[in-house]
Amino acid sequence: MLEVKDLHSGYGDAIVVRGASLEVRPGEIVALLGRNGMGKTTFIRSIMGLTPPQVRSGTITWRSDSLIGLRPHDIANRKIAIVPQGRRLFPSLTVTEHLTMLKSARAKDGWTLDRIFGIFPRLAERRYHRGGQLSGGERGMLAVGRALMIDPELILMDEPSEGLAPVMVQHLESIILDLRKEGLSVLLVEQNLYSALAVADRVYIMETGQIVHHGTSQEMNEQTDVLFQRLGVH
Ligand SMILES: Nc1ncnc2c1ncn2[C@@H]1O[C@H](COP(=O)(O)OP(=O)(O)OP(=O)(O)O)[C@@H](O)[C@H]1O
Ligand SMILES: [Mg+2]
Repeated sequence: MLEVKDLHSGYGDAIVVRGASLEVRPGEIVALLGRNGMGKTTFIRSIMGLTPPQVRSGTITWRSDSLIGLRPHDIANRKIAIVPQGRRLFPSLTVTEHLTMLKSARAKDGWTLDRIFGIFPRLAERRYHRGGQLSGGERGMLAVGRALMIDPELILMDEPSEGLAPVMVQHLESIILDLRKEGLSVLLVEQNLYSALAVADRVYIMETGQIVHHGTSQEMNEQTDVLFQRLGVH
């Protein structure tokens, strides 16, 4: 289980995440929602040990170990993966090279190249294309595939549906639900409220670096007016 308590994190003198607490239990899908610039990416990057930002105070605990101060590589070794906002692909590496960077193409255990190509047939068709040649949707699929290849137990997804066509958003939702069936936990940052409510067990809302509201998706579904107001959705 991931437990973040009273996290403060930011850039230089600017503290962006200001006392946020959140937890993700095993096999749970948790959505983190909030308007642009509220600190969601800063929060996710802080968990993954990516800098900037710099964590100032608070605790981040994963299966009773502290993650604070560990490098992203060490955190990935503890089975936490990230689908970063903006995807962060390598323009000159092929689809296959992105997927096999951390695991051999011949690997037979856990997530394999064939299994990724099975859930994203489009990536199989593009296996020799380079990162810089992919469409926005293909880049999104590749970022999810790359995260799965470390056989994570927790995936931090920062707006994975950004740039995806509606049919692909639905496909991604069904993939996330399938992952949960396998026991994987997901922390999902989403702009799309309906997509978040469709897959998440629980929802947190972040406003200027603080969690201002949280509850089960069912509770949230019963108070969509609060959500609309908080998220500026009309
Ligand atoms: N590298 C950086 N250096 C300085 N300030 C930053 C940096 N990255 C983000 N910020 C600032 O931190 C605040 C929160 O940004 P963050 O990217 O965490 O928001 P977000 O909730 O993920 O927004 P979005 O929904 O647009 O992705 C913003 O005011 C942003 O300008
Ligand atoms: Mg963001």
